[in-house]
Amino acid sequence: MTKLTLTDLDVMKKEGRKIACLTAYDAGFSRILDEAGVDVVLIGDSLGMVLQGHDSTLRVTLADMIYHTRMVRRGCQRAMIVADMPFMSYATPARALGSAERLIGEAGAEVVKLEGGAVMAETINYLSSRGIAVCAHLGLTPQSIHKLGGYRVQGKDRTEAEQILADAKQLANAGASLLVLECIPHELAGTITRQLSIPVIGIGAGADCDGQVLVLYDILGITERQLRFSQNFLQTGGSIQAAVQNYVSAVKSGTFPSATQQF
Ligand code: KIV
Repeated sequence: MTKLTLTDLDVMKKEGRKIACLTAYDAGFSRILDEAGVDVVLIGDSLGMVLQGHDSTLRVTLADMIYHTRMVRRGCQRAMIVADMPFMSYATPARALGSAERLIGEAGAEVVKLEGGAVMAETINYLSSRGIAVCAHLGLTPQSIHKLGGYRVQGKDRTEAEQILADAKQLANAGASLLVLECIPHELAGTITRQLSIPVIGIGAGADCDGQVLVLYDILGITERQLRFSQNFLQTGGSIQAAVQNYVSAVKSGTFPSATQQF
């Protein structure tokens, strides 16, 4: 099985082929995702909430991320592996380099993801100029939950929307290879996706992004949260394998997310 690369994702963007991404935290699930045709497997720090039972992602440590990334790596032959850098593990460029070194070198991640706007441009440039592939994350950034004051849609007013667009451009120029947009209005996500040359993956950001990502435990109905932008694919799929395959087909065909699943 040939491993997907960033070049493949760039081609998918150019050709208008949608990128299907899901989170996974262990080898068993990552093998199911890989076999179902998921393009990108994200070891999200959402594991702090859905696996560890915390009420935020802030308690997740670098050791946790390394442990889970190692397991996911063993299950994946084709999908690209993106690992979240946890809270404060990239607070300075030097710290980010140390964290990325461990996630890539010890755990087998291919891309590291970090949250934040233009202030992260220096860190992204620092990593990317040293050959490290970075995924940026804008909009609702859960590691800033206390500053944001809640899990709310971001970029609803014009000033905020302009800031997110400007940040996206700056992070792409700094060397980000991918961008995740979380919980922003779909028109804004569409504008950003069209204006950037790097692939843009949305969660609660509408159908016009180059790809979609959801939390695996949400699409399997393991979590109890009812999220407007997510869907329980197990209910209709009947098995975990079918649920993941149906998610991939829905993303690829553009039927997920629907108009009612976006902001
Ligand atoms: O931690 C995570 O799972 C994420 C996705 C929701 C994008 O960052």
